[in-house]
Amino acid sequence: MAVEDRIIVPLDVPTEADAIALVEQLPQVTFWKVGLELFVSAGPGILGTLKNRQKRIFLDLKFHDIPNTVIGACRAAAAYGVDLITIHAVAGRSALTGAVAAVGESALSAGCQPPKLIAITLLTSLTSRDLAFDLKIPIELPEYALQMALLAQESGLNGAVCSPQEVSQLRQVCGDDFLLVCPGVRPNWSETADQKRTMTPVDAIKAGADYLVIGRPITTASDPVAAWKKIGDELAAAGV
Ligand code: C5P
Repeated sequence: MAVEDRIIVPLDVPTEADAIALVEQLPQVTFWKVGLELFVSAGPGILGTLKNRQKRIFLDLKFHDIPNTVIGACRAAAAYGVDLITIHAVAGRSALTGAVAAVGESALSAGCQPPKLIAITLLTSLTSRDLAFDLKIPIELPEYALQMALLAQESGLNGAVCSPQEVSQLRQVCGDDFLLVCPGVRPNWSETADQKRTMTPVDAIKAGADYLVIGRPITTASDPVAAWKKIGDELAAAGV
């Protein structure tokens, strides 16, 4: 896979018009992420707009609800013909296994490729302190992320979202076929903003990430095309 095809850029914008403007500003980007903000404001029409432009789509709605609701949401999402969808591992084993089955059936009856179903292990904006003091989870953060990834793998999911700092351990334990997607990626020339567990693109790929989700370092750069190119050049120079 070409290195640029491993970078997913989030359309973290409020309207469809803003999303189309960003897609047109960055024609080099082949894989876009539609998250909650855009999906809630623009509706599913944005997915058709991206597909008409031959873009791949990561529909990152991070489903987390009772199994029946999560399964229904995954069934509906799979029928859009998107490439990746997310579900929180903490939705639990019944939701995860049910979602795997629903995604396969739904894509088959819609006549499209089933999306890869990937689990959120722990949001990359959370720290060890948040986990221990606020969420009252009494295990170390890397161990928690690993356990969530293993639950997803045992439940038949295709992969997980994790911070770059956990990716090498997850790669080692979950094996090469488990898809690992890392947000929280920051070139050393950009701001970290609210992301807490960050790493550079080169280090994240070297540590075992299949895909990197890189948003604000590109989208809020004074020259987004130049920022995109700089990241690609850094990856190419590192030979990853
Ligand atoms: O701008 P930035 O690079 O921080 O964007 C990261 C994107 O990845 C956001 O759209 C965010 O919702 C998403 N994400 C994340 N952490 C996760 C899963 C998804 O930051 N665990």
